[in-house]
Amino acid sequence: MKHQTQVELTRAVFHHLAQGTTDVASEIYRNPVAHYISAERLARERTDLFLGRPLMMAMSCQLREVGAYITCDGAGVPMLITRGQDGVVRAFLNVCRHRGARVANGCGRNENRFQCPYHGWTYDGAGHLVAVPDKRSFEGMDRAEHNLVPLPAVEQNGLIWVCATPAGTDVDSLPIDIDKALAGLGSEFQSFNLDAFHHYTSRQLRQKMNWKLVIDTFLEPYHFGVLHQDSIAPIFFHNLCLFQAFGPHLRVTYPRRTIETLRDRPETEWDLVYHSALVYVLFPNTVFVVQGDHLEVWRIFPVEDKVDETVIFLDFFVPEPVTNQSARDHWDRNLELVTGVVCDEDFPTGEAIQFGFLSRAQSHMIYGRNEPALAHFEKTVTAALTR
Ligand code: FES
Ligand SMILES: [Fe+2]
Repeated sequence: MKHQTQVELTRAVFHHLAQGTTDVASEIYRNPVAHYISAERLARERTDLFLGRPLMMAMSCQLREVGAYITCDGAGVPMLITRGQDGVVRAFLNVCRHRGARVANGCGRNENRFQCPYHGWTYDGAGHLVAVPDKRSFEGMDRAEHNLVPLPAVEQNGLIWVCATPAGTDVDSLPIDIDKALAGLGSEFQSFNLDAFHHYTSRQLRQKMNWKLVIDTFLEPYHFGVLHQDSIAPIFFHNLCLFQAFGPHLRVTYPRRTIETLRDRPETEWDLVYHSALVYVLFPNTVFVVQGDHLEVWRIFPVEDKVDETVIFLDFFVPEPVTNQSARDHWDRNLELVTGVVCDEDFPTGEAIQFGFLSRAQSHMIYGRNEPALAHFEKTVTAALTR
């Protein structure tokens, strides 16, 4: 983040602290409960958001080396993402062109060869079918027409974006304009130098709540002093955040109480990033948290056609390779704090909210003016569906 931006945001924090205020929306917002329990609504979200838009699927540092690959089914199709011999990151439908088995599972690194575990058809890192055992039995089949199906993919500023719907067959000319899609956030992400980070560990969680409720969890500090009074309330300010929209995306700045120490320092030394948690929503489904000394990336997907079930992939990144036990202990404690707060405090509340929706107690939820990021996210989802 540009230093000038850090200074401006820090000044805004000090202003709010002096006034007892927070960033606000222009008005309260009523969000229909139907958006969280309607199967028809979820079907449109899956088609228009998860299949129809580029999704932030991985960080470059997860695929640093040639032959590194990851797989993910979250978007509703089996996806394989890999770095080819030429260093280019490509994505494919993880579907063997023989009879459809997955050609890769989990994540790892290979010699740019994906051998299908069913009958052994083999593809290279660019998706070309390079070997067919007993090929005389497939006489008449054009091998070039049986490459893996490419998905549009782009790597930029340390992030890898993939569209879950094939665009065509020319894997190297695919239509994701990520600069445009990031709506001004690109340079901010560039400043974080994400390539320098290292993947530490990943977790996969399942929750009985709508995928949007999981994202909502991260978007306001109005609950910090209540739900989190014994966990993170001593670290952050209650009901104080800064909000900024970037097209469909957004940033919420949660200052840490330690930001007060900057008052005694010249503005040239103000380091907002270190003294805050920056929560970005990379629309539609990634919550990207810059924690000063590490990164948490939460990618959130509905489970099939279930309105009340979500799968969450949490990837944890640290600034240096972890090579000894004391570093491991340090990052494990960090991870436990984060997952403890979210999984023991936020998510049970979210699951209760989802259950309560079915009681018909209310037709809508109400977001206060002090919850501007919630309103932006929910309005953006709705707008993306009605386009
Ligand atoms: S399904 Fe992959 S080789 Fe048969
Ligand atoms: Fe929370």
